Amino acid sequence: MNTSSASFISLLLVSSLLLTNAQTTPPLIRGLSFDFHRTNCPSLETTIRDYLREIFSSDFGMAPGLLRVHFHDCFVQGCDGSVLLAGSASGPAEQEAPPNLTLRPRAFVIINELRNRIHRACGAIVSCSDIAALCARDAVFLSGGPDYRVPLGRRDGVTLATVNATLDNLPFFGSSARELAAFFLNKGLDLNDLVALSGGHTFGRSNCASFVGRLYPTQDPTLDPIFAETLRRVCPSNTSSGVTPLDVRTPNIFDNQFYVALVNRQGLLNSDQDLFTDPTIRPIVTRFANNQTLFFERYVFSIIKMGMLNVLTGTQGQIRTDCSRRNTVTTHLTTGVDEQGESAAF
Ligand code: HEM
Ligand SMILES: *[C@@H]1O[C@H](CO)[C@@H](O)[C@H](O)[C@H]1NC(C)=O
Ligand SMILES: *[C@@H]1O[C@H](CO)[C@@H](O)[C@H](O)[C@H]1NC(C)=O
Ligand SMILES: *[C@@H]1O[C@H](CO)[C@@H](O)[C@H](O)[C@H]1NC(C)=O
Ligand SMILES: *[C@@H]1O[C@H](CO)[C@@H](O)[C@H](O)[C@H]1NC(C)=O
Repeated sequence: MNTSSASFISLLLVSSLLLTNAQTTPPLIRGLSFDFHRTNCPSLETTIRDYLREIFSSDFGMAPGLLRVHFHDCFVQGCDGSVLLAGSASGPAEQEAPPNLTLRPRAFVIINELRNRIHRACGAIVSCSDIAALCARDAVFLSGGPDYRVPLGRRDGVTLATVNATLDNLPFFGSSARELAAFFLNKGLDLNDLVALSGGHTFGRSNCASFVGRLYPTQDPTLDPIFAETLRRVCPSNTSSGVTPLDVRTPNIFDNQFYVALVNRQGLLNSDQDLFTDPTIRPIVTRFANNQTLFFERYVFSIIKMGMLNVLTGTQGQIRTDCSRRNTVTTHLTTGVDEQGESAAF
């Protein structure tokens, strides 16, 4: 490469860093932008952060609960809020969801309450899927993780997520790292994304059902025996209903200790531990275990990428006036909104 094109490229890099406030960001999907609601709903982000700070101070579990909602939303039919619809397989009030899919019911209530406050202040111009993405960001930041800017402008879908679509599109806790890698690749997410996003398991909890297969009938030899012993107390049989933290070291903090646990063979889910067992993926796990700054950088990049999976933009979909229901009548609320949002600058 000659020097002038090299300096042109470094200039591009510098300006994109300046534009994004020094945050390393994947290319944004057309129709999304960081400033989408800056002029039409300036109170949006402070409303969410202030409300969640208050919620988490008395109910910490809502932080991992909200991050997981955003993950399920994006993997099933794209980040279109379908997981928030009553009647979707792991949606609010859904009794039929497999136990490993059960999202915390209060997380749905919180998102709808925020939608109510935001729509009262700004009108029905912010989608439920954008609110879920912002909640996921604040769940991480308010738990000790990185802060970052979220591309906005998503629209809400009108299609329920069926049980089959949900099971087909969510990764399975029993999977090997190789299977997970193929699964993520199919969604446009690479190995770095897989490992960084699995860091979502640095807080929150799991039910026995998601890992008893590693204890009974025979114990998984990759499991640290002392750790396995404590797990057997939480889940004395293969039908126990106990719960235990996903990150045994710092269960309520968003940090890199989840990776330190994997290095010490104290990962709870088979799908997590196998990232360390797999020789091609192990170096990424080790790097994150040794360098939290690196993990935070990579996590921010990957969660933004995940947050853009198959999004609806422009005049697609609608802005739901209740996150748990599709709008029944197509009113002016579902159109004519886009002019107010600033369009992406690329
Ligand atoms: C890599 C594939 C993944 C698999 C196989 C997986 C599977 C699981 C399972 C089985 C649980 C425990 C559910 C239970 O038994 O109650 C769980 C919890 C959780 N997952 Fe994942 N997950 C994956 C990726 C992700 C990603 C990408 C995120 C977000 C970035 C995420 C965020 C969470 C959170 C925060 C919890 C705790 C939820 C709570 O405490 O309410 N997971 N996951
Ligand atoms: C769901 O998947 C199962 C098993 O693959 C299949 O038998 C069933 O017909 C599917 N149901 C629908 C509604 O697609
Ligand atoms: C949830 O559990 C069911 C039954 O054990 C299993 O078929 C399914 O693949 C699991 N799904 C996920 C996402 O872990
Ligand atoms: C639990 O273990 C028993 C005895 O080994 C077995 O018959 C049963 O299918 C297992 N149940 C589950 C949910 O894995
Ligand atoms: C950790 O990662 C950061 C961010 O990539 C990097 O700047 C720093 O040099 C790394 N630290 C060490 C000790 O490797």
